[in-house]
Amino acid sequence: MAITTQAASKPGTVDLAYDGKSLSMPIIEGSEGEIGIDVAQLRNKTGMITFDPGFGNTGACRSTITFIDGERGILRYRGYSIEELAARSSFLEVAWLLINGELPTGTELETFSREVIHHTMVHQDFGRFFDGLPKDAHPMPVCAAAVGALATFYQQPETEQSIHDSVTRLIAKMPTIAAYSYKHSLGQPFMYPRNVLDYCSNFLHMMFANPCEEYAVDPVLAKAVDLLLILHADHEQNCSTSTVRVVGSSRANLFASIAAGISALWGPLHGGANQQVIEMLDRIESEGGDVRAFVDRAKDKKDNSRLMGFGHRVYKNFDPRATILKKACTDVLNAKGLASRQLEIAMALEEIALSDDYFISHKLYPNVDFYSGIIYKALGIPVNMFTVMFTLGRLPGWIAQWIEMRHDPETRIVRPRQIYTGPTVRGYVPMEART
Ligand code: CMC
Repeated sequence: MAITTQAASKPGTVDLAYDGKSLSMPIIEGSEGEIGIDVAQLRNKTGMITFDPGFGNTGACRSTITFIDGERGILRYRGYSIEELAARSSFLEVAWLLINGELPTGTELETFSREVIHHTMVHQDFGRFFDGLPKDAHPMPVCAAAVGALATFYQQPETEQSIHDSVTRLIAKMPTIAAYSYKHSLGQPFMYPRNVLDYCSNFLHMMFANPCEEYAVDPVLAKAVDLLLILHADHEQNCSTSTVRVVGSSRANLFASIAAGISALWGPLHGGANQQVIEMLDRIESEGGDVRAFVDRAKDKKDNSRLMGFGHRVYKNFDPRATILKKACTDVLNAKGLASRQLEIAMALEEIALSDDYFISHKLYPNVDFYSGIIYKALGIPVNMFTVMFTLGRLPGWIAQWIEMRHDPETRIVRPRQIYTGPTVRGYVPMEART
């Protein structure tokens, strides 16, 4: 049985010849020259499916939101480079851009900010929801549960207007929910949002203020949080975003889809890596600070350690977000007059890894999580809240991708196939005959 693929009897197609049958499959080209083979007719015409665990070679949709060139370290939202957005934009502006496709005019941004501010409070009954959860609960499942529970408060039938309202509510309430999940773990009273504050200052206020003392938000910290959120705002079809799309493809509502995305983000190979990086740096420090020994362990296949914050499915040269963060990290620490042993260890680790044959040949470079944890630490964000910070940032990306999926005429419920490798048919064995 011979399978051959070749280009092509017709321009713009790839021919597949298999077992005497042949199929001409269209080539799809994106606006940045990326090409893919449209295999939609493959099973119908040949009985075969594609096999791609981890979907590393599978395009699940066409998208106009985010472009990544992993070889050249390029990341753009709606065509705008991450470097320019990080230097010139605000998080709410970027959220609008991702969701609506264009940078907002002054009036649009003002209206959007006003709408968001208007919805920052959560329903008073929501407090009791938190009371039902253990005090030592990790804030990520708390956030996932709370966002899922929003669907019980807003049950309107799905229309363009109700989707718009859900988008505003999610962006407005996510910082409140995130801060409440932290306050719950401390046993401190929830702080109401203060709507005179901007988005990130409001979040810091709800996290760190308490009813007994004055708390003034440090503008350097608020600006750093805003930058971090921009850098995390979207990353095309990553694990959590794909989860949001998969769940939404069954026509589950926006709250349910985003709650699933939060759960996917929690994993240590995805958003959970920022917490793992700080824990790794602390472990290296507590074991005597031998950075080279840790790098050697990360290379050893018999050892489970990986260099957390290193490597990426898409970036094979550098992660542009890590480059921006490395500088921001030093700037924030300098501005606050802080020294960070973790930053010293991180830099030593990076230097050794970047000149090591294993890391060079495997194309492993620092990713966004490598430096973000160090900034969060400097900002006073507790370690178990790091992935929640990623959630705050990624929210507009998930929303934009969910809306795009819903409006895409090519969307079908996601339902991959499999190659079954289990037992073939066999007779039922009665209990008394089982060994
Ligand atoms: N340290 C040591 N070796 C590594 C690492 C690492 N951090 N990452 C990958 N490798 C090796 C891996 O052992 C494998 O080696 P070999 O081919 O010799 O068996 C090879 O590199 C390919 O690894 P993979 O796991 O097949 O690559 P992937 O594309 O499936 O996984 C990744 C990407 C990010 C999950 C992985 O690099 C990793 O586990 N990194 C550490 C966790 C991390 O920092 N995650 C955050 C990602 S960025 C934020 C986000 O978008 O979520």
